[in-house]
Amino acid sequence: MSDVILADPMPELFAELSQGRFDVRPLESATDADCAAAVAIVAYSHPVVDGPLLDRCSKVKIVSNHGVGVDHIDVAAARQRSVLVGNTPGCLDAATADMTLALMLSVARNIVIGDRFARSSEFTHYDPSILIGQEVTGSTLGIVGMGRIGVEVARRARAFHMKILYHNRNRRPDIEDSFGVQFASLNDLLGESDFVTLNCPLTEQTHGLIGPAEFQQMKRSGILINMARGPVVQTDALYEALTTNQIAAAGLDVTDPEPLPRDHPLLQLGNVIIAPHLGSASNVTRRRMMQITVDNMIAALDGSPLPHEVRPAG
Ligand code: DGY
Repeated sequence: MSDVILADPMPELFAELSQGRFDVRPLESATDADCAAAVAIVAYSHPVVDGPLLDRCSKVKIVSNHGVGVDHIDVAAARQRSVLVGNTPGCLDAATADMTLALMLSVARNIVIGDRFARSSEFTHYDPSILIGQEVTGSTLGIVGMGRIGVEVARRARAFHMKILYHNRNRRPDIEDSFGVQFASLNDLLGESDFVTLNCPLTEQTHGLIGPAEFQQMKRSGILINMARGPVVQTDALYEALTTNQIAAAGLDVTDPEPLPRDHPLLQLGNVIIAPHLGSASNVTRRRMMQITVDNMIAALDGSPLPHEVRPAG
């Protein structure tokens, strides 16, 4: 008999990589019988996994998260119940850094608005005076969060000859020389950067990190990129900043809430590009993420150490 697991709707790739070993029952509509039978939970599209859910699932050994950020999982509650938590760090750094640069370039160089214009009947001839963007090469980039993804962003930004500032919980002397990045306080980073990119995890410390005071601190020509999690930025303050020329524009891979309600005023603005949480969404990376999700789960069920275990903070 196959092991029962609870999971969000998942792609074929899961069945392929787990060789059809599992009887997958839907997490969202799990009955008490499904919960009682389940030995693992796969968190594929950021479902909330908390103490009350785990209490219904007395046989679950692991919550295997597809992705690195585990802010939707109560890791402490899992630990209290002797449930392991796995995630997929490392394999998605390059793809997420690529997307950071993609959003930065798209916002700076009016790619989305230009695409709409080029398809419209208004585009009748080449006009060198329209859609003049901001120069990326040689400008200053501030990276908030110098973990694995931040380092990959810095690596790419160097190719654009950018001056790179970073702000991180812990200073990283190891990478300051090798990547030519300079540590800065958050305020200094915001004040000096042409582009500010958020590549930090969502934690108690980063929740609401960028609000009215931080937008005031940014350059009026500044561009904010959020690749972290929506709640790192205060949405109302962002709207205010974008509509009162406190900053020039924003590129958001994540929002709070996510998705935004269809009538949210942020969706009407021309100076923001919003992507539907595509940071790690490349074919190669998605396959690696699923492989690690499966490997973590199988290790836990076999009683082996997880390739990537998440432990409670602190
Ligand atoms: C991550 O890895 O945390 C991404 O947001 C995908 O879940």
